[in-house]
Amino acid sequence: MMNIRLVPNLTFDSSTDHFVLILYVLSGWGTDEKVIISILGHRDSTQRKLIMLAYEELYQENLIDRLKSELSGDFEEAAIRWMLDPVDRDAVMANVAVKNFVTPDIRVILEIACVRSPSELLAVKQAYHSLYKRSLEEDVAMHTTGDFHKLLVALVSTYRYDGDEIDSSLALSEAKILHNAIKEKAFGHEEIIRILSTRSKAQVNATFNCYKDEYGASITKGLMGDPKDDFLAALRVVVQCIRSPHKYFAKVLNDAVNKQGADEDALTRVIVTHAEKDLNNIIELYFQRNSISLNHAVANHSSGDHKAFLLTLLGAEDL
Ligand SMILES: *[C@@H]1O[C@H](CO)[C@@H](O)[C@H](O)[C@H]1NC(C)=O
Ligand SMILES: *[C@@H]1O[C@H](CO)[C@@H](O)[C@H](O)[C@H]1NC(C)=O
Repeated sequence: MMNIRLVPNLTFDSSTDHFVLILYVLSGWGTDEKVIISILGHRDSTQRKLIMLAYEELYQENLIDRLKSELSGDFEEAAIRWMLDPVDRDAVMANVAVKNFVTPDIRVILEIACVRSPSELLAVKQAYHSLYKRSLEEDVAMHTTGDFHKLLVALVSTYRYDGDEIDSSLALSEAKILHNAIKEKAFGHEEIIRILSTRSKAQVNATFNCYKDEYGASITKGLMGDPKDDFLAALRVVVQCIRSPHKYFAKVLNDAVNKQGADEDALTRVIVTHAEKDLNNIIELYFQRNSISLNHAVANHSSGDHKAFLLTLLGAEDL
């Protein structure tokens, strides 16, 4: 049972059970993570926004700040990511990633730049301005060098056309340009970067398809080379994010659970950012690839409140 200390004279009904959380967090009885998980984990983004507003109005305090002081570890991070508006969440994740520029974090920037729609990317950049009084572009530019710099600055700066139209002869000629650069191992070639960063996703995908038809192997194969080459790995992520994002995320999740100690950051990121969108597609591909359900993998590899929270977002809290 919850130990709720009610605020006097406050009326609420069952449809406003968010007050339960509000009151609970405020009660001096110690935080009950299970209650927080069961309430927040079952609220969509509009409802969560209402909870935040109601909380702020009642207590002149930001609920996220409160959660930061009440929770800890991987669960704290997941709960806070979940409470943020999706666009703000991306801006926050991008900021953490640029400030801490090492290989795994580059994926965060690439996912935001290549998986989100062009207008979503624009919204994330606007949120970044409001939150940090700087642009994502300048932060990425300041924290990168060499080929990474060229690629990442181009990808975060772009505003691609978002239509479905495809120019087949252009796809053919650009497949050839890509193939020539790859053959010469000129992976940081400005033409590779121009094509990947400026063409519409439908057009780039058509180019990848032509590449495979013309040269007998996928562009991803062409970008294999040295497995320790981080720049090649980044190019493969770009290709996968544009071509088949669900497959890409299924792989990120699989890598995350198979890592020693599990990569909780990656698990949180993929599950939280897709829970209200296309997580079911990712779950399905995950099962196809691994013959084990994502629910079971998470149940097996995570622990404590973080595990309970992720399973709730997966709709598998009974595991
Ligand atoms: C890319 O092309 C392949 C093959 O036609 C198709 O299956 C896939 O859905 C396309 N992806 C995108 C993002 O258009
Ligand atoms: C659970 O994790 C252990 C250790 O990582 C592994 O050996 C086992 O196969 C996993 N089971 C499932 C069902 O994933």
